[in-house]
Formats: sequence, C-alpha cells, structure tokens
Amino acid sequence: MKHSISTINSNQTTVRKFFDIKEIEVSALHHLSSDVYDFFSGGAGDEDTLHQNIVSFDKIKVLPRVLRNVESRSLATTVLGNEIAFPLLIAPMAFQKLAHPDGEIAVAKGAHEANVLMTLSTLSTSSFEQVKCVGQMPIWFQLYIYKDREITKNLIQQAEQCGFNGLVLTVDAPLYGKRKREIVNPLRLTKQIQLDNLQKAGLDLNAIDLPQLAPYLASLLDPSITWKDIEWIRSISSLPIILKGVMNPRDVEIAHEYNIDALIISNHGGRQFDSALSAIEALLAISEVNAGKTELILDGGIRRGSDILKAIALGAKAVMVGRPILWGLAAGGVEGVTRVLSILKSELDMAMALCGCKSIEEVNKDILFLKK
Ligand SMILES: Cc1cc2nc3c(=O)[nH]c(=O)nc-3n(C[C@H](O)[C@H](O)[C@H](O)COP(=O)(O)O)c2cc1C
Repeated sequence: MKHSISTINSNQTTVRKFFDIKEIEVSALHHLSSDVYDFFSGGAGDEDTLHQNIVSFDKIKVLPRVLRNVESRSLATTVLGNEIAFPLLIAPMAFQKLAHPDGEIAVAKGAHEANVLMTLSTLSTSSFEQVKCVGQMPIWFQLYIYKDREITKNLIQQAEQCGFNGLVLTVDAPLYGKRKREIVNPLRLTKQIQLDNLQKAGLDLNAIDLPQLAPYLASLLDPSITWKDIEWIRSISSLPIILKGVMNPRDVEIAHEYNIDALIISNHGGRQFDSALSAIEALLAISEVNAGKTELILDGGIRRGSDILKAIALGAKAVMVGRPILWGLAAGGVEGVTRVLSILKSELDMAMALCGCKSIEEVNKDILFLKK
C-alpha cells in the first residue's frame, strides 16, 4: 500500500483524489514528525484494544437486500435534535495545531461545509470564539473534570457563553492512559501550541516548561469523580450532557437514572485501557440494555462507510470519528478534512443503497448476519 501511493503530495488536487481513509493516513505519515504521528496514532499498552476497535467491524458481516428501489436516498438525521447531513460527529481531539497550523479552525470549516457536528476538546489549540465563528454547524464542548472545580466551571461557562450547544463529559479518563509510543517518543510541544481556553479559565500555563506541559495537563485530571459530579455540572449548566467513554451496560442503567441526554460508547480510541472490549462489540451489548431510552453514539475504529452502517444497524444514532480527521487535517488542512468526510459519506450512501435502505431510519439489525 505504501509503495503504490508513495508519490502523493499535499496539493489540493491530490487531496481530492484520495480513494479511501487508508490512503489519507499514509499521506499524513509523510506530513507529521514522528512524535506527533505517534501521539495521534498510538494507544494504551500493546494497542490491542486500538486494533480490535478496527478489526471488530470486519467480523460483522452484512446481508445485502435487493429489489427495493433505492433511487432516491437521504442520509440526513438528528442527534439530540441537531440536524446533520449524515450520522457522523467529529470526536474531540487535543492539540490539533500539531497536525496543521489551522488546527481546530480547519476542522470546524470542514464540519460546517459537510454539515456535521463537531466536538471541541478541552485541550483545543484554538479558542472557543475562533471555532464558533466559523459557521452555524452544531458544536459541542468536551470537558475533562479537573481537580480544580473553579477552572472546570469557567470552561463550561466560556463554552455556554460562546453558543456551544452540548457538553461532552469524558468519563473514561480518571487517569491518563499508559501509552508506550508517547513514553518512548514524547511529544515535543512548541510555543505555537497555545491553550487559550484553559488560560482564560484561570490556568497559568506560561509557568510550565514546555517538556513538562503534557504531563502537567495529565496531572490535572481528577480520579475522584463520581456520578455526584454529573449532578454538580447539571446544577451549573443548562446544556445537554453527553457522557463519553461508557462501555459497561451497568453504567448505562445508572445513566438512565441520572437522565443523561446521550451516551458515547467509547474506549477513547484504545488510548486508555488496553483490554477493553472493542467499541462496536460494547454497543452490541449496550443497545439491548438501553432499549432506545437514550441516544447512543458509537466512537472508535470507524474507517469506512460500511462501519457507520453497521453501527447504525446495531442501534447507534450516529458515530464519532477521531484519527481519520487528524490525518485529513495533516494531509491537506480544510481540504483534507473535507475529503475524509466526503469519502465516509459517499461510502455510507453506497452501503445503504446496496442494503436496500433509502433512509437512516430504515437501517436496522435485519441487514446484519449476527451469529447467535
Ligand atoms: C490525538 C488524539 C487526541 C485525543 N484527545 C481527546 C480529548 O482531548 N478528549 C477526549 O475526550 N478524547 C480525546 N481523544 C479520543 C477521541 O475523542 C476518540 O474517542 C477516539 O479518537 C476515537 O477513536 P478513532 O480515532 O478510532 O476514531 C483523542 C484521540 C486522539 C487520537
């Protein structure tokens, strides 16, 4: 694969010619320094969960349907009432200016153009205002609950004042995952990487030496968080609450008791606990317990339109996509992000047509061959 596209360069025409997400990843590899590539691509431990997130999709086979007049199709749907052109959300990811100088702003432009929902990380290298003013696409803010609750509260307030319309609470990171690639080849952050939202929330990052910044940020995570903290966040914000990083059906039942607005079934892209089940297999178990009570979003391992189809068929309202967006960003800025989104959308459209589905509502378990 590497050999066949070794002549790829970054000009915009080439970006538009990328055939699939694999080609975009290979191109990104040529654009990124090794520390950044390792930070983006790596996972916890032996990276088995990272690997399983992807290969578990291959194990789920489809039973295509025929003779169902699929001439006219719509991929449009909603997530918590937000209208999107197809069931894809952009996952929150830290330090996007490491991929491209336009960072989160380029991702926001891609989301706006494709009319999908974007999520901005706590560790965004662009400010709330810069990202929000890109367009009218729906946008959520991802929050890590820090030990310092005042900073946590300030972040929520900034997002709310800026017109963000959902709070994604990442709950699978009481501690920062142990990622070998990051330990062997640590990120070399530069002064260009500014975390304005955190600074404005009261964190004095100028006092921290650059090589210490990433470990310092990890040390802010609060391992003592519980469901009570979710109640606290509800008491200070009127935004819908979406929990990111739920994997266990028992936690889904508790989330029902707390009236959580939506759940993101995710193992953090295999970056936290290497032994966690793949995200799509967790969805299979969780859909049953959830019984349609809460909107579910599948996050982890989406690399093809057929992966999106399978997640929807297993009960997800939409999927979240992480690394492919960073690869697109690295390969070609906004153009690269747009290309990733258009590849996934057209592949989903094709997969739906071949399964006899004219709309997202028609996609269900009947198109899957699920072994008992
Ligand atoms: C480089 C990188 C940075 C990330 N930063 C965050 C973050 O700041 N907050 C968060 O909740 N998840 C973060 N994630 C996890 C993603 O939101 C998402 O769960 C994961 O990438 C999904 O898997 P995928 O990359 O296979 O699509 C990050 C992932 C990557 C690859």
